[in-house]
Amino acid sequence: MIDDDIKKGAELIREGKLVTFPTETVYGLGADATNDRAVVNIYSAKGRPTFNPLIVHVTSLEEAKKYGEFNAVAEKLANCFWPGPMTLVVKRIPNCGISYMVTAGLDTIAIRVPSNEIARRFLEACGTPVAAPSANASGKVSSTTAEHVRESLGSRAGFIIESGKSDIGLESTIILATRDVPVILRPGYITKEDIEKVIGNVEKYDPEKIASGKEGNKPMAPGQLKSHYAPRIPLVMNATNFPTDYAVLAFGKVSDDIHADLNLSESGDLVEAASNLFDYMRRLDTFPYKGIAVMPIPDEGIGVAINDRLRRASQNGFTVKK
Ligand code: TXA
Ligand code: MG
Repeated sequence: MIDDDIKKGAELIREGKLVTFPTETVYGLGADATNDRAVVNIYSAKGRPTFNPLIVHVTSLEEAKKYGEFNAVAEKLANCFWPGPMTLVVKRIPNCGISYMVTAGLDTIAIRVPSNEIARRFLEACGTPVAAPSANASGKVSSTTAEHVRESLGSRAGFIIESGKSDIGLESTIILATRDVPVILRPGYITKEDIEKVIGNVEKYDPEKIASGKEGNKPMAPGQLKSHYAPRIPLVMNATNFPTDYAVLAFGKVSDDIHADLNLSESGDLVEAASNLFDYMRRLDTFPYKGIAVMPIPDEGIGVAINDRLRRASQNGFTVKK
């Protein structure tokens, strides 16, 4: 059954169609990265601004080198963390065959080798690099199940290769690796500490700097929009008061006087919390709640990535009324 889906998905990709597939981070909305028309369809299916470039998914570092220039740092990172939840932004090889729609006019390219078994078999079967953003409407919460994909995109998701819940549940760590000291553009499961163990110096994730930073005269991270992952109702992070009409998204032990609607991890495990985050945000984004109050999450390890997503999700102009 899954074998048939992988085969069918790969055929559709080669025909220039959209195919949604599972990865270890979140579900991706894929198209043949060498086909301009197919790539344009990704942008329209998501309602995504065309200045926001896509990640190219390949099967190996060797394949990645056909499209990007890997300096010593990039090569080391790839050898350590691929296949896995890490995207490297490297210099694009100009006439490498990847559609210029994918890289949105930048002279860099974002590349990832996923570790999820279905994703790998699908990419092998496609025989072409696959451009894929997260499979959700632009600016909204990412999808960690096929059900989320259907809710978010309906028939615009194209053919869906359905598998279980994504293991990690947060998008890949994105690292700009064009110079000697790499920069974390988007925090994720692979943390600053993990990277430092391998290469020593890393520039820490700094949303303000990244928002204003430039490589040459081009933006460093064109897609790191301030408001993102937004539920329909307001979300408040680091909540310490809990209005009765707000849903409470808890983390760790909760005192008896607070009614927690869902708990990201009762034992306070950040990895478990990350894998539940988007699913629970979606579940609580419903009537009759007026908003979602999220308890504080420690800003360490993968907690940095969780707080990054919560910060963007909370940028919709509302505050909690006491
Ligand atoms: O885990 C993931 O990375 C998932 C799965 C499907 O692989 N994909 C994903 O894609 O999260 P998306 O499109 O939702 O996020 C990709 C981010 C965007 O913020 C985009 O701006 C950034 O990568 N990006 C792509 N190319 C870039 C480049 N050349 N320079 C800087 N940022 C880039
Ligand atoms: Mg996304």
